[in-house]
Amino acid sequence: MAEHAPPMGRKASSRPARSPKARASASSSASPANGPRPTADTARAPTPAASIGSPPEDRAPGAIDVAPPAPAPDPDRLPRPFGKLQLVDRIGQGGMAEIFLARSPTGLGGERLVVVKQILASLSSGPEFARMFIEEAKLCAGLRHANVVQVFDLGREEGRLFLVMEYVEGFDLHRLLSLCSKAKLPLPPEFALFLVREVVAALDFAHRATDAEGRPLGIVHRDVSPSNVLMSFEGEVKLCDFGIARAAGLGAADEARAPGASPGPGPRVVGKSAYMAPEHARGEDVDARADVFAAGILLWELCAGRRMRRGTEAEMLEQAKHPDIPALPARGLPAHASLQALVSRALAPDRDARFGSAAELLRALDAYTHEASLVASPLRFGAFLTDHFGETFLAERRARERAARALALGPAVQITALEGTGRDDAPSDVAMTPGDAPSDVAMVPGDAHDEDRTDAVARPAVRRALGIALACAASLAALWALLGR
Ligand SMILES: Nc1ncnc2c1ncn2[C@@H]1O[C@H](COP(=O)(O)OP(=O)(O)OP(=O)(O)O)[C@@H](O)[C@H]1O
Ligand SMILES: [Mg+2]
Repeated sequence: MAEHAPPMGRKASSRPARSPKARASASSSASPANGPRPTADTARAPTPAASIGSPPEDRAPGAIDVAPPAPAPDPDRLPRPFGKLQLVDRIGQGGMAEIFLARSPTGLGGERLVVVKQILASLSSGPEFARMFIEEAKLCAGLRHANVVQVFDLGREEGRLFLVMEYVEGFDLHRLLSLCSKAKLPLPPEFALFLVREVVAALDFAHRATDAEGRPLGIVHRDVSPSNVLMSFEGEVKLCDFGIARAAGLGAADEARAPGASPGPGPRVVGKSAYMAPEHARGEDVDARADVFAAGILLWELCAGRRMRRGTEAEMLEQAKHPDIPALPARGLPAHASLQALVSRALAPDRDARFGSAAELLRALDAYTHEASLVASPLRFGAFLTDHFGETFLAERRARERAARALALGPAVQITALEGTGRDDAPSDVAMTPGDAPSDVAMVPGDAHDEDRTDAVARPAVRRALGIALACAASLAALWALLGR
């Protein structure tokens, strides 16, 4: 797959004074304090074959010295070259992959930020997994839609499969719920409905996708869950990881076990059991209606203000196989009966009783939001995110940039995995309190580690920076004393 040009003419921010995107982008493209950062190309420039300054005595007549090969980049150190890209920050870790923010050079010398999803080595080395992953990724890379995270490239580097994707600068839904919970900030119901609506629009588009001859591609996401719902400070909502769960499920059948895959013989069920449709959990063939069910659980949870299924992955898998769908708690949302009817139909255990397609669910959602006067816009959702969490995002980002700069200055130090990067969908992580008013879709604190993750990365960086500063000061003082003599 060729790398595609970035979308031109990004939507201008309507909130220039406080848009974290604009400020964060500016800070990300600034040169590091320790001089110009090598580009991917310069960092990987081949070492000249002949070494002119070598001692002549141990050289055979007519021989030329060959410089030792450039050492392979330390995989734990950032920034580091990665093919044509430069990995600059590790922004997430899931069950199957690590997620990096990367700089991608553009034709005329500029660069853009992209995301690299580097599949774990244990999975990448399985030939069946690799085959399925490549097949699925190729299929899904053709998806172009405002609500789908675009895949630009697919390849293998450092022995691991990777995808290059559009960077969505903001949070995933898991993290948003966690932040709301900590801030005791209710997620307004119009934004809850807006989020689900945008996810369903992505599903509708992907389910209807066809090949060049107009044959249906039969794409089913299979892992619609909060950590795969990304949102930007512009109020965009995008679903990512199309095709990944299928590749993991099929590819892991006779290879290294995919994390999240069901144990035991038979088809490997991959996806998050908290959001799984019964037929999916039972290992049967799934179609678009399994995604409708998962979107129904998202809707249920955002409206109810709490998780629907609880327990370990194995326990939730059992619940998923024989679902007992609780009634939506009455929380003062307008036209509750209409909403309940909608949710019940999306969550019908028998898929024939469910909405027949994401398009049908989309129409029902739109009808309800109009009936209940809960229509939201990306502009207002973006303003909500920016107003409440823009500073948090920037602080985290600056801390990670400082950490990366300090690492680039000092000896290789392993970057500690960020805690709470949206990986864990464990039920205790996102609890939501029920309330009386419609605006009470609030979350109680449950993910106490999230705010610490900035510190977890920043502290070693600060210590290192302080150490370097002290060393410089000491050297200067010594020099000064010498000169003074
Ligand atoms: N394109 C992207 N832009 C911005 N952030 C992203 C992007 N893709 C992933 N992330 C971040 O990285 C996190 C980890 O993603 P990843 O898909 O590896 O794990 P996961 O979704 O938590 O679990 P799973 O392995 O089941 O998919 C995401 O939750 C999200 O916060
Ligand atoms: Mg994911």
